[in-house]
Amino acid sequence: VVFENSKTASIAVAQEIAALIKSKQEQNESCVLGLATGSSPKGLYAELVRMHKEEGLSFKNVITFNLDEYYPMEPDSINSYVRFMKELLLDQVDILPENYNIPDGTLSKEKIQEYCANYEEKIEALGGIDLQILGIGGNGHIGFNESGSLQNSKTRLVALDHITRVAASKDFSGLTNTPRTAITLGVKKIMEAKQVILMAWGEGKSNIVKSSVEGTVTNLIPASFLQEHNNAVFVLDQEAASKL
Ligand code: GLP
Repeated sequence: VVFENSKTASIAVAQEIAALIKSKQEQNESCVLGLATGSSPKGLYAELVRMHKEEGLSFKNVITFNLDEYYPMEPDSINSYVRFMKELLLDQVDILPENYNIPDGTLSKEKIQEYCANYEEKIEALGGIDLQILGIGGNGHIGFNESGSLQNSKTRLVALDHITRVAASKDFSGLTNTPRTAITLGVKKIMEAKQVILMAWGEGKSNIVKSSVEGTVTNLIPASFLQEHNNAVFVLDQEAASKL
């Protein structure tokens, strides 16, 4: 779906999420959202916060699972995804603190595997993710599932691609300070989400959007796996869609 700009697109996605939250409320059910970080969902989170503050949209029945976190990473560090999510969404709405989940960047290495298995079990116990929000890396990564990630990959510790670290290095004041690893939800859980919305803005994403949507399905471009999902939508601005 192509919108005139990222603002109108983000508002449309927020409306879709709000409608899902409300329909779950009416059925007395929880709404399980998979959330992403990066610049792409910022407008979405701003609109959801506005809907909470001005229109009374409640997040009391919402349970969230973030895709990823750098490793190692302290939650209160300036670049942590915990901090990003709290500032842009979680601390601004009435979600219950026990209802949001973000991979823990402070674990000792030996504990990561068990932690990741528990993260997936928690999602499964809730019946899976109702709606997964995604951005896309310049190399086609989703979450931190870099090139080469398999379609059935699990939640795990991954090595970040050079291109991903270069993109992140502006936030970490240089490549040497940029983490080399991260914990990411695996492709399998993303593909199991009932609905997926990938958001991409700007000319810089146009080539990878084209390869993901029109190219062959390949683990070199994990976003291309979404061609095989039965309810996945790419929400784009005109620049990101310009090569389609
Ligand atoms: C990071 C995140 C991804 C995100 C990507 C794109 O790598 N881990 O989940 O999709 O950045 O970021 P942006 O939206 O800033 O282009």
